[in-house]
Parts: sequence; structure tokens; C-alpha cells
Amino acid sequence: MNLINTPVNAPTDLLNAAALESATAIATLAGIGKHDIAIVLGSGWVPAAEMIGAPAAEFDMTEVPHFSAPGVLGHSGKIRSVDINGKRVLVFLGRTHFYEGKGVDAVTHLVRTAAAAGCETMILTNGCGGLNPEWSPGTPVLIKDHINFTGNSPLHGAHFVDLTDLYSSRLRAMCHEVEPTLPEGVYVQFPGPMFETPAEITMVRNMGGTLVGMSTALEAIVARSLGMEILGISLVTNLAAGMSGEPLNHEEVLQAGKDAAVRMGDLLAKIIAKI
Ligand code: HPA
Repeated sequence: MNLINTPVNAPTDLLNAAALESATAIATLAGIGKHDIAIVLGSGWVPAAEMIGAPAAEFDMTEVPHFSAPGVLGHSGKIRSVDINGKRVLVFLGRTHFYEGKGVDAVTHLVRTAAAAGCETMILTNGCGGLNPEWSPGTPVLIKDHINFTGNSPLHGAHFVDLTDLYSSRLRAMCHEVEPTLPEGVYVQFPGPMFETPAEITMVRNMGGTLVGMSTALEAIVARSLGMEILGISLVTNLAAGMSGEPLNHEEVLQAGKDAAVRMGDLLAKIIAKI
């Protein structure tokens, strides 16, 4: 087996030694030297994994050096290698969140590893709150842009990365071929783990955000810095704080994911087959 990974377009100084070690371990565990597409299944998306396809290999994140098990209920902590129409897809069932306090490098390690494993496309999914009252829980929304409201940068040193068209308009157009009515939104990443206050949701609305969550933006920035093409899809699991008159809770987030699993998995499988 060829274990020499071929990071595509990746400035090698951004692919740290840890990412290369993780990618080498994944190549061994998956029995294949290069993957093409990486996908992160966020809160609520894990039940969709079955629909993406039968895994050629599956292993625990903890078997890969520099990875730790996700600290959140609803994230399984597995990595799968799936063959879809001859494309090898690396599926991460869970992620490290910024609020776990392990630092931005731990949050983005998965992305650097995917690039080191050869992936040219990064699909980031999440569960989030929606600000558009028409988006009932279970609605998938394409991310067209983001606001990084974590107060942190995941890049180190003088890397001046262009974030115009960060969420690829080419990939969004492909998604619209699969599902023409998919809405688009602007995702605002908060640090978490607390949900937002109603006043913060008013602020988000005023600054142009339509989706709120606790992931994705930091990862997308690193993926772009590594030359990957990025697709972001949010699953609206609840109306944002203060909009429904109900308190928010994590179980509701997971339940919305379970209810939408078949639709989400089917959508992902069709999109991946097109890439
Ligand atoms: N806010 C932040 N993160 C979330 C939400 C929310 O309303 N729902 C799911 N993840």
C-alpha cells in the first residue's frame, strides 16, 4: 500500500507534523493512501452517516494519534472511509469544539489531517439555531458565508488568506441541482457552550447573520488556507434564542437530527456523488 499522502495545493508549512502523523495513521487504518473528500458530521448529523454508504473501514478517533474523542453527547467519535462512485470519502463522526478549551489547533486538527490525507474538498455540517422563522427544525440550509464571532483566529503567522467565496459557489450550485429549494444563510460561530441570549440573537440579525452555532467557521478558515474547496451545510435544529418562547436544550438539537437523518443522509450522498 502506498502510504505517501499527496496534500493537494496545501502550503506545506501549514500542514504540521501532527497532521501528517494523523494522516499516515488514517492511511494505515483505512488501508488506502489517499482520500478525496472529507466530511464532518456535526450535532444531529451522525444518524445520517448510514445513508452516505457502507464503510470500507471504520475506526475510533482515539486510534489516530493527536485525535481525542469528541466531548459531546451525539458525536460518536468514529472515522469512516467510504467509497462513493470511486471517490474515497473520509467521514468524521464528530469534532472537537472550541468550547472544550483545548485551543484552536485542536479544533482545526481534523481539517489539517484531511488535507494531509489528500482531500481536496471539505464538507462541514453542523446543527444550529435558525433566525428565519420559516426554517422549522429539520431544515437544511447551505452556508453562503460566515461571521467568526469567537474572537479567535485559527491561523498562525502572516498568512493572509482570502475568504471571498469561502463557501464555494460552485459546490452550492451543485447542491441546488440536487435540491433546488435549499435555502442559504450566513452562519455566525459563537464560542459556546452556552446558547445565545435573545439580545445576542437581535445583534446577530442586525449584523446579517441568519444561523448561529458553535463550530464550522474556524474549520472553514483553515480548510481555505490549505487550498481546499469548502461546502457548509447547517441543519436548523431549533429557532434561535428568544424566537419561540421556549427554552433551548441539547436534547432538542439531537432529536431534530434523528428526525431529519434520512433526508440529510440522502442529500449528502447525492451531493457527494456529484462532486
Ligand atoms: N445556538 C448555538 N448553537 C446551537 C444552537 C443554537 O441555537 N442550536 C444548535 N446548536
